[in-house]
Amino acid sequence: MVDLGDNPFDTTDAIFEWKQPLKKDTFSPETIFHRDEEISLYINALQDVVVGHDPNNIFVFGPTGVGKTAVTKWVRDKLQEKAAEEGVPLHVIGPINCRNYRSAYSLVTSLVNEFREPDNKLPESGYSTDNVFEFLHEEIEAVGGNVLIILDEIDNIPPDARNDFLYDLPRAEANENTPIETAKIGLIGISNDLKFVDVLEPKVKSTLGEREIKFGPYNANELRDILGYYADMAFRDGVLQDEVVPLAAAFSAQERGDVRQGLRILEKAGEYARMSDGNVVTEEHVRQATETIETDELLDYFEDDLSSQQALTYLATTLAIIEPGHEATTKRVYNLYSSIAESSNRPVKSERKLYEFLDQLSMQGLVRSAEQNLGIKGGRKFIYDVTDDPRDILNAALKSSYKNAVPSNAKRVLKSHLEDEASEFQPPDTSDPQQRNLWKFT
Ligand SMILES: Nc1ncnc2c1ncn2[C@@H]1O[C@H](COP(=O)(O)OP(=O)(O)OP(=O)(O)O)[C@@H](O)[C@H]1O
Ligand SMILES: [Mg+2]
Repeated sequence: MVDLGDNPFDTTDAIFEWKQPLKKDTFSPETIFHRDEEISLYINALQDVVVGHDPNNIFVFGPTGVGKTAVTKWVRDKLQEKAAEEGVPLHVIGPINCRNYRSAYSLVTSLVNEFREPDNKLPESGYSTDNVFEFLHEEIEAVGGNVLIILDEIDNIPPDARNDFLYDLPRAEANENTPIETAKIGLIGISNDLKFVDVLEPKVKSTLGEREIKFGPYNANELRDILGYYADMAFRDGVLQDEVVPLAAAFSAQERGDVRQGLRILEKAGEYARMSDGNVVTEEHVRQATETIETDELLDYFEDDLSSQQALTYLATTLAIIEPGHEATTKRVYNLYSSIAESSNRPVKSERKLYEFLDQLSMQGLVRSAEQNLGIKGGRKFIYDVTDDPRDILNAALKSSYKNAVPSNAKRVLKSHLEDEASEFQPPDTSDPQQRNLWKFT
């Protein structure tokens, strides 16, 4: 029983010294571990700038949480330092995260504003996209010298901005229709989505990919060093049992080789230790943390970040993916969305609205789409995918307030999806718009 007269908050923390280094990407490490080769490729590609040649365009790719952004920032800082020492004219913009922009207009505007003084910023609307591009060219020419533009998460670049940014911009100096004559533009594009590269036009691919730097996942030993570095800063002396960092490293290596996840496990393990009122973090706390980490993260999305319509759309997309015998087309997602919205007594919005929800989910990095050309029949269709494991998404949905929207046999369908035993289920009749053959809506 809680005595209401007591205040249950603790004023001291026996476990954490400084949580910031464990927090999502808000901390810039002073040391980068185990990326010597990637750093040397990077330095080599940018070396030209320092000695007075034109900058190269660079494409950096690899899975999530493997240091692409961290290494890029580190190399950027070193380059700026050297250029300043040598008196080389260099202006660096970014990394700018494309995920934060919904249209070419908003992305270009923010780039223009990077060059401009606070009292001269461009408004969020009022010009044409061509106009704002002209402003950008003017700003680039006005600063002159080498202009390096770093775009992060370019898989999220607004579709209407793809060619303009990844092809036209790096070639603007060669284009007679732009005012750029003396400035030299180098573009660095970073992506964790290799499917994105496949859909780029060859000319774009070869422009951006003048130099390519691939980041692979970390192995357990590498993660041990990296996580150890953060753990030293984050935890109080002596609270970590010896096995904690190696275990978190082994788990993350097994999953995706992703530092970010390892850091989350350490934070979570520390929190379990703190909740148990002890002053040591044990192997058991790490195990507890790993069991819940993915689901907890997604549960936070369901409860805090997504509107109810977005949550239903996310769930419907996941169901469409595990449904046997089909790809998750917009039509399939919409049918499932309508069924679960209806069965859980929530408003059913139009298909046009669904596109918006899917778009918003993709802005948050939860869903992604690939466009498919329908060949001689003409037209295009979108196939959707979720970026997390459908198992974790369903578990999170079942723990959330959307529990009643999950079909009662979802776990069974999932199991058969995972075992690839689609034969157990007859693919639903495509003429049955509700797909009630398969799903049991409560
Ligand atoms: N080699 C490393 N040494 C030190 N810290 C690292 C290293 N690699 C990654 N980190 C840290 O791990 C976290 C994730 O790395 P980062 O943000 O660079 O990943 P990313 O490859 O850009 O992932 P995403 O594709 O999701 O953006 C950051 O806090 C970063 O500082
Ligand atoms: Mg990144």
